Amino acid sequence: MCGIVGYIGPKEAMPLLMEGLNKLSYRGYDSAGVAILENQELQVVKKKGKVAVLAGEITKYTFGGKIGIAHTRWATHGEPSDRNSHPHADCSGKIAVVHNGIIENYSSLKKHLQEKGHKFASETDSEVIAHLIEVHYKGNLEEAVRQAVLRMIGAFAIVVISKDHPNQLIVARQDCPLVIGINDNEIFIASDIPVLLEHTQKFLFLDSGEMAALSVGDVRISTFNGNRVQKLPQIINWEQGKIEKAGYEHFMLKEIEEQPRVVRDTLRGRLLAGGLVELEDFALPEDYLSQIKRIYMLACGTAYHAGLIGEHIFEDLLRIPVEVDLASEFRYRDPILDENTLVIAISQSGETADTLAGIKEAKAKGAKVIAITNVIGSSITREADHTIYTRAGAEIAVASTKAFIAQQIVMFLIALRLSQHAGSIAGGVLHEIAQALHDLPVQIQSILDNHQPIRDLAKHLAQQNPCGHYKYNDFFFLGRGLDEPIAREGALKLREISYIHAAAYAAGELKHGNIALLTSQTPVIVLLTQERIREKMISNIMEVIAREAPVMAVAYEDDNEIASIVPPFSGLSSNVMRIPRTISWLAPILATIPLQLLAYYSGLERGCDVDQPRNLAKSVTVE
Ligand code: G6P
Repeated sequence: MCGIVGYIGPKEAMPLLMEGLNKLSYRGYDSAGVAILENQELQVVKKKGKVAVLAGEITKYTFGGKIGIAHTRWATHGEPSDRNSHPHADCSGKIAVVHNGIIENYSSLKKHLQEKGHKFASETDSEVIAHLIEVHYKGNLEEAVRQAVLRMIGAFAIVVISKDHPNQLIVARQDCPLVIGINDNEIFIASDIPVLLEHTQKFLFLDSGEMAALSVGDVRISTFNGNRVQKLPQIINWEQGKIEKAGYEHFMLKEIEEQPRVVRDTLRGRLLAGGLVELEDFALPEDYLSQIKRIYMLACGTAYHAGLIGEHIFEDLLRIPVEVDLASEFRYRDPILDENTLVIAISQSGETADTLAGIKEAKAKGAKVIAITNVIGSSITREADHTIYTRAGAEIAVASTKAFIAQQIVMFLIALRLSQHAGSIAGGVLHEIAQALHDLPVQIQSILDNHQPIRDLAKHLAQQNPCGHYKYNDFFFLGRGLDEPIAREGALKLREISYIHAAAYAAGELKHGNIALLTSQTPVIVLLTQERIREKMISNIMEVIAREAPVMAVAYEDDNEIASIVPPFSGLSSNVMRIPRTISWLAPILATIPLQLLAYYSGLERGCDVDQPRNLAKSVTVE
């Protein structure tokens, strides 16, 4: 949610900043801007629209400066417009700031600053930062920023540049991501590690409530209160982190195609012979494991769906009650937890504000927290007691795909590790699970080897009426048991990528109102992987067919019955998206793949920007 970049060094800053913005634009793409310092002049260019619009604008000017800051915005306060774009400057035009986050007390700060005569050029909360720094500036930029951040309430990562300090950048962070990359003679700043991996593997991570004064050869870190902090750089050797499309038209397709590798990497070294599990960072003491009476899953968006799958798996394997909560709801409803509660917080980015706040709430109530995340060094790793990484590699497309698969694998590994301790699974079942996990990458590959039938379905579903409107605009996804969260994820993917209205229901709930919406223009996608409740699901499919709604299914390759129940659209050979057979706990992983492809091709057919859908951002660092 907003991306920020900064650079000081021997090279021209502009190309590096633009490269950074391009890589970060999945964090927001409502507007973008840069500020470059050269010859005591601060050149600021900012434009509404994606980074490409800014790239067009900067060709009108020349920039030779070797220090600068840049920003790509996901609008919160103030519409997307040129004037609301970052960087924001103070009244004198000497100080410029880029900001990710929300300043919650901006309105009172702004009023106070206006009373003192400050003139505001935008409607943003962020602009108050520039004016606050101006108020406190007495020749020392670091001190002025310190005084400003002490007065700011909310979440922020900021980078500050000033004409009066041509060799210095000041950064500060509170509950928003920001990393500092260092080489011998240059310093990079970015919201995410992968943005900088082309340039350095040496990183400094600020904790929340810390700031740094940065010039080449001089890095000074301190708390907002002014206490010096000593930190050693960490080496991030993260090959999979590089941001590149590798010949694919879209990151989303690349990331979908990477999923066999993701499963292999996430399992590597963790699943041992006979189904035993060893998790490198799982440091909860054995006597604590015996005390766990309840498990909470906490997440947002796609990660929440992974939590819903985890609920089934943990309850089945451990027989411990599990509750899954949207992090945004959990934190405000005084949840009942104590030291016998284990909280599993799931977040691809590790930066989602609601999830981080949920973790704080859980820890304050005495619970232990395990984080499942994909991003090394992200905020969640500092908030949680323990972190298990998903090893999916950098996920760039805004809609989450490969991280979701990896989250399910990690959750399964944690469930196995806990049941190992509890002795709750028989040896034979463990062997069966281990074998099924080993088979997954090849099975996923077999689905990926045959996109065409799904592409054909997407094309059919994108047909237009003679008046040029799409024929199908409302979709249903139905499932029972472990198929239900996948129905939700399939619907979410379709909404995100193709802007089609899609709703997911537990199939048994259809009759309680929702069925009233079905017509011959309401395509219904049914999931049929859970044998235990297959007959019930078939009955629900019949109810749908009786209302003349077009039906498509996700079912096993050897399911011979379903093709005769679900007739193909005219001109197509089948309306059934096939997956290889696996154990019921792992079926969600395989069933997800065709739905990701259906969303991807539906987005393409409807001319949508699949990697950067409108109004969305990859990492949501505001509440
Ligand atoms: C955003 C993204 C979703 C993601 C959700 C949670 O809404 O667009 O794809 O699932 O945030 O993100 P997290 O990083 O916490 O998994």
